[in-house]
Amino acid sequence: MYDGACPTCRWAMGLYQRLAPLQEVRWLDVNEARSGLSPAEQVRYMARFHVRDSTGRLLSGAAAFVALWLVMPGWRWAGRVARLPGVTPVLERLYSGFLRLRPTLQRWMRAAEVTHLPADMLADLRADHAGETGSVAIYRGMLWASRNVQVQDLASRHLRTEEQHLEMMRALLPPFRRSWVLPVWRVAGFWVGALPALFGPKAVFATVAAVETFVDLHYQQQISRLASRPDNAPLLALLLECQQDEREHLEEASLSQLTPPGLALRLWCSAIGTGSVAGVWLATWI
Ligand SMILES: [Fe+2]
Ligand SMILES: [Fe+2]
Repeated sequence: MYDGACPTCRWAMGLYQRLAPLQEVRWLDVNEARSGLSPAEQVRYMARFHVRDSTGRLLSGAAAFVALWLVMPGWRWAGRVARLPGVTPVLERLYSGFLRLRPTLQRWMRAAEVTHLPADMLADLRADHAGETGSVAIYRGMLWASRNVQVQDLASRHLRTEEQHLEMMRALLPPFRRSWVLPVWRVAGFWVGALPALFGPKAVFATVAAVETFVDLHYQQQISRLASRPDNAPLLALLLECQQDEREHLEEASLSQLTPPGLALRLWCSAIGTGSVAGVWLATWI
C-alpha cells in the first residue's frame, strides 16, 4: 500500500513494478482506493509504506520493504540480509529520514513534472523557452541602445509580444526543465539587439529579419512534427500562435528594409543565423 498521489512514492513503486513484473505482489494505490478505507486507515497508509504479508501481518516502513524483497525474484538475498540481527532497525532509521525529506522531494518532483507534454518535444520546448528569453533580451537591448523613433516603436511593440511568448513558455515548462544557462541567452540576446541598434534602423531591421526568419523556421519544424498527432492539439495551437507573431515581426522588418543590406550587414546576419542554430542545439542539451 503506497501513496499514489506522492510523486516520490509513485516513482519508487513504479521502479519495483518494472523490476519484477511477475512477482506475487498486489499493489494498492491508497490515494485511489480512499473510498474503501476509514479516515484513520487513509492517514496511516498515506503516511508510510505498508505491506500485508501472506500470513495477514501488517508491516510498515523498513519491515514492509523487507517483506516485499523476500517475495521478489532476484531480491530475496536483500530480504535475507535485512533480516540479520540489527539490520532492519538501521533501515528503519533511513526510512524515517527519508520521510522527513519527503515533502521537499515531493515539491522538487512536482516542479519537474511534465506529464502534460509529449516526451519527444521536451528538448525543443526547452530551446523555445531559451529562445523567447533571448528574444525579450534582444528587444530590450535595442531599446537601451537606440533613441531612434522608428527603432523604439518597433522594439517596444515586439518586446510586448515576446514577453507574452515567454509567459506562455514559462506556463508550459516547469523550472527544472528549462535551460540551465538562461543568463547566457539573456546576455547574448541583449547584445544581438544592442549592437545593430548603435548603427541605426537599417541594421536593426536586418537583424530582426534574420532572427525572426530563424525562429519561424524552428517553430515550423516542431509544428510539422506535431501536425499529425491530434492528442497534442493544445500545444500545436500554442506553437502556431507564436509562429504567427514571429512571421508578423519578420514581415514588418523585411518591409522596413528600403535598401538591400551591405556586405558587413550581410555577414552580421549570417553570423546570427549560425549563432541561432548553435544556440538551439545547445539549449536542447542544457
Ligand atoms: Fe517570440
Ligand atoms: Fe519574435
